Amino acid sequence: MEHSPLVEIKPLSTAMPERVEALLDAAFGTDRHGRTAYRMRQGCAALPALSFSAWDDARLIGTLQCWPVALERTSGERVPLVMVGPVAVEPALQRSGTGRALMDAMMDAAALYADGALMMIGDPEYYGRFWGFAADATGEWVVPGPVEQRRLLARGANGHAVPDGAGAITPDPARS
Ligand SMILES: CC(C)(COP(=O)(O)OP(=O)(O)OC[C@H]1O[C@@H](n2cnc3c(N)ncnc32)[C@H](O)[C@@H]1OP(=O)(O)O)[C@@H](O)C(=O)NCCC(=O)NCCS
Repeated sequence: MEHSPLVEIKPLSTAMPERVEALLDAAFGTDRHGRTAYRMRQGCAALPALSFSAWDDARLIGTLQCWPVALERTSGERVPLVMVGPVAVEPALQRSGTGRALMDAMMDAAALYADGALMMIGDPEYYGRFWGFAADATGEWVVPGPVEQRRLLARGANGHAVPDGAGAITPDPARS
């Protein structure tokens, strides 16, 4: 697999929080906080073992955060899930392998440390093509805001299968 030769992947904790926020503003816009994905993990801290930063020498060029969420059934049962994203790459450097390098690092870590299946809101043409995310089990999931069902994706990890059937995606801050 080819990536930009300069990209180095490190834990997210190596990046200053203000720089991470500035990069997210550049990739998604400053109005990003009202998005459905933000509401799903409100009150949670990012999972350190599954969150990464991408560097070109000393310059932060990409970030990937993961969060603890759960699928809550009407019975009250809560199935732990790991929400992946945002994945953000500096706009001027997009489509040069940085997103793939971040996701590859996260998938390797998730195979060891994820305490639930992975879920995300993202483009199936990208996350399905390279990492096998799919929307087929998420049709009855309810999320706190608008989402295109084809972009509500999930994938098993570390022995955890994607839970199917109905439920609401809610934050699970106790696992942060
Ligand atoms: C989406 C994003 C993370 C991808 O990272 P990237 O470093 O730009 O992309 P990569 O270099 O890893 O892409 C590799 C391949 O995927 C393709 N690709 C990238 N983004 C894609 C998308 N959204 N849909 C379909 N294909 C995509 C590229 O064209 C490339 O294909 P090729 O190898 O056939 O040329 C990045 O572009 C970004 O930050 N975008 C803005 C924020 C966003 O939309 N994030 C996703 C939601 S969480």
